[in-house]
Amino acid sequence: MRAFEPIIVAFACEYCAYTAADMAGSLGMSYPPNVKIIRVPCTGKVDTLHLMRALQKGADGVLVAGCYLGDCHYKNGNLRAQQRVGYVSRLLDEIGIGGERVMMTFMSAGQGNVFAQVANEFTEKIRNLGPNPVKLGAGKAAA
Ligand code: FES
Repeated sequence: MRAFEPIIVAFACEYCAYTAADMAGSLGMSYPPNVKIIRVPCTGKVDTLHLMRALQKGADGVLVAGCYLGDCHYKNGNLRAQQRVGYVSRLLDEIGIGGERVMMTFMSAGQGNVFAQVANEFTEKIRNLGPNPVKLGAGKAAA
């Protein structure tokens, strides 16, 4: 039996986390191939629906990575994203999927090391949590 390898979707702001991920790659700071990066113009563009849809479509964990609070190019986009992640996290807890499956993180464009560390730690956390129950439920329904 194959070990569980989680699928992680990372919504990454192009001003910081996306560049940091790129830097991590080019400097040889490894992070798991499990992390699928979606470039967004600002984390403020990531809606609760995007987070829920990622989980519904098979992600085991969803990361939202934005600029540090106070550094958002659209003023409060990262703050709004943080609130949405918090809301979805509480919702996931209530419906028994696990609020830890979504996470907000902050970094600057030069912090490739931070991106690599967060990606590694989050992937490990989700690996320990196991597969997204929505995925398992969908599998049972299809069987
Ligand atoms: Fe980076 Fe808003 S511009 S989070």
